[in-house]
Amino acid sequence: MKFFIDTANLDQIKEAHELGVLDGVTTNPSLMAKEGITGEQNIIDHYVKICEMVDGPVSAEVISTDFDGIVKEGERLAELHDNIVVKVPMIKEGIKAIKYFSEKGIKTNCTLVFSPGQALLAAKAGATFVSPFIGRIDDISSDGIDLIHKIRLIYDNYMFDTEILAASVRHTMHVIECAEAGADIMTGPLSSITGLLKHPLTDIGLEKFLADYRKGNS
Ligand code: E4P
Repeated sequence: MKFFIDTANLDQIKEAHELGVLDGVTTNPSLMAKEGITGEQNIIDHYVKICEMVDGPVSAEVISTDFDGIVKEGERLAELHDNIVVKVPMIKEGIKAIKYFSEKGIKTNCTLVFSPGQALLAAKAGATFVSPFIGRIDDISSDGIDLIHKIRLIYDNYMFDTEILAASVRHTMHVIECAEAGADIMTGPLSSITGLLKHPLTDIGLEKFLADYRKGNS
C-alpha cells in the first residue's frame, strides 16, 4: 500500500519524506487555508514547492464547479509540475471534466466520494484515483472501512485501473484496516504514519537490550 500525507504543511511533508516511506501528498482548500496559503499566486507557488519535495503524485484541488471552469483550472494546475494530480469533486460537472482530463492524459483524483455508486462513476469516467472519505463516514456513525471493501470488490470485478485512495484517514487503525481492505493508497496526517512505529513491547525490549549491553561493556 502506498502512503500519501494529507497536509499542506511543508515541515510535516519533509518529516514524512525523510522517513523514506512517503509516496505522495494530498491537499485540499481547507488544508491550504490552515497553513495560511491564500491568493492565487501563493497557492500555485506552494503546490510547486510541495512537488519539488516529493517524488510522487501531489493532489491540487480545483475551486470551480462548472465544466469549463474545472477544465481551465485543472489544465493550469497540471502545467505547474509533472507530479500534479488535478483533484475534482464528485459532482456531475466534475465527472464530465474527469472524462475530459483522462482523454487528455491529465491525472485526476475524484474527491468527496461517500458511496460505491460514486466510486463506480469515477472509475467509468477514467479517474486516476478515487478518494472515499472514511473518517467523515465514521463521523456520522456509519462504516468507512466497509466502503473501501465495497469499492475494492467492484473495481476487481471489472478490472478498473482507478486506484483506491482511502482519504480522511484519521489514525493508525484506519491505516491498518485500509490495508486489510485492499486500498491501494491511504492519505492521512503525519501522526497516522508515525503512530505505526509504536508498540510498548518494542520500547521495553530495546531498553532491556541496551541495558544488558551497557552492563557487559562499561
Ligand atoms: C482527501 O484528499 C482529503 O484532503 C482529506 O483526506 C479529508 O480529510 P478530513 O475528513 O480529515 O478533513
